[in-house]
Amino acid sequence: MNEWEMHRRDAEDADKADSPVIEGIDIYKSYPFKGGSLPVLKGASLCVKEGEAVAVVGVSGAGKSTLLHLLAALDRPDKGQAILNGHDLGTLSDKELAEIRNKQIGLIFQFHHLLPEFTALENCLMPALISRKSPKAVRERAKELLGQVGLSHRLEHKPTELSCGEQQRVAIARALINNPGIILADEPTGNLDEGTSREIYELLLGLTRESGHSLLIVTHDRNLVKEVNRVVELSNGKTVELYTQHGHKLRF
Ligand SMILES: Nc1ncnc2c1ncn2[C@@H]1O[C@H](COP(=O)(O)OP(=O)(O)O)[C@@H](O)[C@H]1O
Ligand SMILES: [Mg+2]
Repeated sequence: MNEWEMHRRDAEDADKADSPVIEGIDIYKSYPFKGGSLPVLKGASLCVKEGEAVAVVGVSGAGKSTLLHLLAALDRPDKGQAILNGHDLGTLSDKELAEIRNKQIGLIFQFHHLLPEFTALENCLMPALISRKSPKAVRERAKELLGQVGLSHRLEHKPTELSCGEQQRVAIARALINNPGIILADEPTGNLDEGTSREIYELLLGLTRESGHSLLIVTHDRNLVKEVNRVVELSNGKTVELYTQHGHKLRF
């Protein structure tokens, strides 16, 4: 590779590093309520770039889950845009959205949502089987991921035979199995004690960083959010940036 090509590759890498993986632009969302409408999001905007970890904080009821669901293509905004890897989700059919959710997004919720009749290994490999990957390769990948979350000794356990922290570890491995590019996590530690919360938070942050995925984590727990690139607060239906990329405190 000559010098010119090297410069060009560096410039491309720099551009790539800045490209948004997921973006919410001026999003409005209301719920029907008692014959009227309850406005929850009133012009919320948010952007997560490649390799970035961003936290959304806000009191209970602020609309954090609503925003995450819109960005995860689980619901549609009344107004505004949710864009994932350049696709405007509002323009896609339900079938296309389901495919995007399976391949391009890893979702983690407060409650693990593991299927009770399946083992840790089977739960973890399910999204990869749905995307029709080779069962043998998928099994190996699932074992590897469960090893990375510290569960090599629990592959054959069903969810009820696992602790809450272990269940959430399986959910993390499952979210990573299709190499989605972005992990969206809604209060992933909300059901755990303080010590386990920190462990799971650090595991999630470490694994997404290691694999180069972006992370959007939603939590009401401000003490938890450390070492992310940015912290955004959702309040009165809008987003406000609290922490800059370099950890400079704006208002926290
Ligand atoms: N399906 C729904 N119908 C009516 N109101 C809803 C619905 N879902 C959420 N809400 C209301 O919207 C507000 C925001 O909810 P949510 O996004 O779950 O907040 P958060 O995740 O920040 O706690 C809450 O006041 C909640 O009661
Ligand atoms: Mg919520």
